[in-house]
Amino acid sequence: MPSIQTLLENNRAWARSVNAEDPTFFERLSSQQSPGYLWIGCADSRVPSTQLTGLVPGEMFVHRNVANVVVHADLNCLSVIQYAVEVLKVEHIIVCGHYGCGGVEAALRDSQFGLIDNWLRHVQDVHNKHRTFIESAGDFPARLARLCELNVIEQVVNVAQTTIVRQAWERGQQLTVNGLIYGLDDGLLRDLQMRVNSAKSLTAQFKQAIDNLGKKK
Ligand code: CO
Repeated sequence: MPSIQTLLENNRAWARSVNAEDPTFFERLSSQQSPGYLWIGCADSRVPSTQLTGLVPGEMFVHRNVANVVVHADLNCLSVIQYAVEVLKVEHIIVCGHYGCGGVEAALRDSQFGLIDNWLRHVQDVHNKHRTFIESAGDFPARLARLCELNVIEQVVNVAQTTIVRQAWERGQQLTVNGLIYGLDDGLLRDLQMRVNSAKSLTAQFKQAIDNLGKKK
């Protein structure tokens, strides 16, 4: 593991190279940000949101937690969504899960790690809700993959049901909530076809996304 000193040196080299390419880059960014996207992803170190989407600083607002869970009582996540939607006026919220998620796996196995078990309880609720569908996926890796996918779809629903997003739609603000999932083993994002841009389309989009999962295998 590189030392903190190395990280500081890397940082100076990075800032120099950005400056060399675009001498006003930091100056422009320091006065304002206008990202078009809010990313809600897993805290996993292998899923670096801006890197894997080819974006640069200033283009994506980011919230990450274990297993990319959106809970209506989580003031941290709600504050991020509120600021992104009402102040920054992002046009897209992306909920991005990933295959092989340790948090989702712990929920599926009902493993015990301490305090975090309470957080992962939300993923266990997703498991319980879709238990038969998950079991029909096949062996353990297939069931885990399906729970990772379902967890994204359910968290998109949770985002869409926040007062923040509902009020944005009522105001006529253009805002789409999207569900994506990332493959650690190939670096690719998959579209879960869970795309909601109005309160009235939520139920139909949810059903369609679940149907697509069933057809996939
Ligand atoms: Co994860």
